[in-house]
Parts: sequence; structure tokens; C-alpha cells
Amino acid sequence: MSVIAYLYSSSVGRKLTMGLSGLFLVSFLFVHLGGNMLLFVNDEGVMFNQFVRFMTTNPVIKVLEVVLFGGFIVHIIYAAILTAKNNEARPVKYAYSKGNAGSSTWFSRNMGLSGTIMLIFLIVHVTMFWGKFHFGGGREVPIEQAYHQVWKVKEVPEIKNDLGEVVLAHEGYINREALEIMKAQGITTVNAISMTDVVNYSFSNILVVLLYVVAMVLLSFHLNHGFQSAFRSVGFVHSKYTPALKGLGLIISVVFPAIFAAMPIWYFIKLTLLPH
Ligand code: HEM
Repeated sequence: MSVIAYLYSSSVGRKLTMGLSGLFLVSFLFVHLGGNMLLFVNDEGVMFNQFVRFMTTNPVIKVLEVVLFGGFIVHIIYAAILTAKNNEARPVKYAYSKGNAGSSTWFSRNMGLSGTIMLIFLIVHVTMFWGKFHFGGGREVPIEQAYHQVWKVKEVPEIKNDLGEVVLAHEGYINREALEIMKAQGITTVNAISMTDVVNYSFSNILVVLLYVVAMVLLSFHLNHGFQSAFRSVGFVHSKYTPALKGLGLIISVVFPAIFAAMPIWYFIKLTLLPH
């Protein structure tokens, strides 16, 4: 049997695929969290915008984005297959009561439900940030601000130096040379967008903040159960490593979502309640 056929047709193979794709997605969450923590730096979003420029223009990251998308697709499709197979094997649902629920929790029995809500959150989230940044309109900002705060120019004027070379590359970020030429040409503003500006816009809305906080609570439960079962699925259960795995699981399922949730909360407080 080929590896692909094994991963698809055997119960152990399916759980293994689920666990490995889940662990891969956790590695993405780690990088995503690290980059997004730049939002807490009080520098008018410069470092965060630099990070976004790197993430959106680096060719290696562009390839990894496709791999990430594949990881989500595998995780979602296998979740649907596992749920269907479980229902097939157990057409009559267990009758749960406080007494016989044993060690399983409501969340561990409803990974499909919390996963589906996470998927809805993801679609809203990616549309709100990635979609708006790439396909939404920009706003007029002074060219100095676009240069210093690393804004991406939406309507790119073709700026050429004396040698006839284009100095404002198609990725739309103004460099020093382009800034000088634009100033010499009397251009004072450009139509541009910055991810920090998109974050400010989104997180000044209390409904968006509430959506994120609720989603992060669900993410916490989803990761908690998912992380434990991922290691069981790959057969990595040993009493020697149990405390270390429990600690790691706690960091991933409690600390990660808590820091993610702190972002919309902090931005809402900063934008609407604190004087600026
Ligand atoms: C709550 C705090 C969060 C903030 C401020 C945030 C911010 C962002 C931003 C700015 C982008 C666009 C980045 C780009 O185009 O390079 C993005 C994309 C994305 N986010 Fe988040 N995110 C948060 C939480 C999450 C969580 C919890 C997940 C997963 C469960 C997630 C999954 C994604 C995915 C899959 C993408 C698209 C892939 C990519 O562009 O790299 N995000 N996020």
C-alpha cells in the first residue's frame, strides 16, 4: 500500500495526518504570533509594517504561504472524513451524563464544531486583513509618512531616475531615491495602505474585538485537545515526556490565544479610550 493510500484508508493513518497537519499549523501560529507581537511596539507601526513588507514580498514566504494553505486544506478535509467515519462507526450517539462522561470534555467531543467556528473566524480574519491590504483601496498620505512608516503605494506613479531606471519598484514601497525624485517633482501625497492602518481600523470596532476574543477562547480549547491527541496519534506517549508535553501544551493552548486576544483588546483601548 502506498503511503498516500495508507494515510487515507487506515484509521491510524487518518489520525496521523490530522495530528501532523495540526502540529504544522501550530508552527505557523508560533511565527504569526511572534510577528504580530510587533503590534505592541510603540513606534507608529513601523516595525510591524516592515515585517509585513518582508512577509508579502519575500519569494520564499510566498511559496510557504501555498504550503500553509495546503496544510489548512488537509487538516479540514481529514477533519470532515474523521467525523464522518466516527459517526458511521457509532450511529447511535452516546448518552452523556455528568456521571459517565469520564475524562472526555464537551470540547474534546466537539472538535468538529470548534474547528468549524475557527474556520469561519479564519475566513473573516483573512478577508479583513490580507484581503483588504491586497485588494482594498488605500488613502492619501504624505509621501514622507509613506516612506518612513513603510506604507505600500496603491496607485504607483512611475518614478524614473536620470538613468531611466524605475526606482519605485512594482511592489510599491518607496525608497530614498524615489522619495527625493517625487519631492523634486512636487508630489506631496500618495495613495497608499499600511497593515497597521488596517489593524487600527478593524480593532476600533467593538464587535470585531468581541469576535476575536470569543474566537481565541475557542482556539484555546481546540488547541488544548488537538495538541494532546496529536502526540497520541503519532505514538509519542511516554511517561518521561508527559510533564514536558503538558507544559508545552499549556503554553500553546493558553499563552498563545491569550496574547492573540490581548491585541484587539489593547488596540481598542488605545484607539478609543486613551487620549491621543
Ligand atoms: C488576534 C490577533 C491576530 C492578528 C492581529 C492577526 C493579524 C494578521 C495579519 C495582519 C495578517 C495579514 C498578514 C500578511 O498578509 O502578511 C494575517 C493573516 C493571517 N492570519 Fe492572522 N492575526 C491574528 C490571529 C490569527 C489567528 C489566531 C490565526 C489562526 C487561527 C490566524 C491566521 C491567519 C492566516 C491563516 C493568515 C493568512 C496567511 C498569511 O497571510 O500569512 N491569525 N493575520
